[in-house]
Amino acid sequence: MKSMSAMFKGKTAYDAEAVRQHSRTIAKHSDTTLTKLFPEDSLQHASEAKPVIWQKWDKFEFLSAELKRISEALENSADVRESDSSEAAMSMTMDTAMMTETAASDTADSLFRELADTCSSCHTTFRKRKITADYENDQSCRTAACSSGGRLLSAATQCC
Ligand code: HEC
Repeated sequence: MKSMSAMFKGKTAYDAEAVRQHSRTIAKHSDTTLTKLFPEDSLQHASEAKPVIWQKWDKFEFLSAELKRISEALENSADVRESDSSEAAMSMTMDTAMMTETAASDTADSLFRELADTCSSCHTTFRKRKITADYENDQSCRTAACSSGGRLLSAATQCC
């Protein structure tokens, strides 16, 4: 996520193949592969998971499925950038839409924001620590408000 975040922020060169690979990795670990890691009453071990997972299991399952849906869409749309010239973006989007049934408006950029929001909405509800170690160290994401005790809302794009 961190290396993808840097690419989408324009800090490092955009590499569609890397985005595809990262997305595939996330997709592989999502949905039922993820929910299976959380059998009921599995909190004997030190864990950042909150017991509310099993009270709001539907929401937990939904977010796991969303993670798969969005990461797969990102894999398929890795070539479709928001900043592409509109004609190139349009024809690329149409091709992608026909092959994968991805909505024409789904650019890699918007899907990445959706993906980051899915990570953080699940962590906000179901994980004890609010900020992942990766993002804790990401100074670019620490606005004044954040460092004065605010919360990270969206791991990649938004603070407090
Ligand atoms: C369906 C809910 C859910 C979604 C979606 C989700 N996570 Fe998590 N994540 C958790 C929970 C719960 C934990 C705490 C697990 C534990 O400590 O047992 C966690 C832990 C983590 C950790 C710490 C792992 C460790 O070994 O301590 C990282 C890093 C992480 N998530 C990254 C992400 C990223 C990046 C995304 C989005 C691409 C994401 N997560 C999406 C629920 C989710």
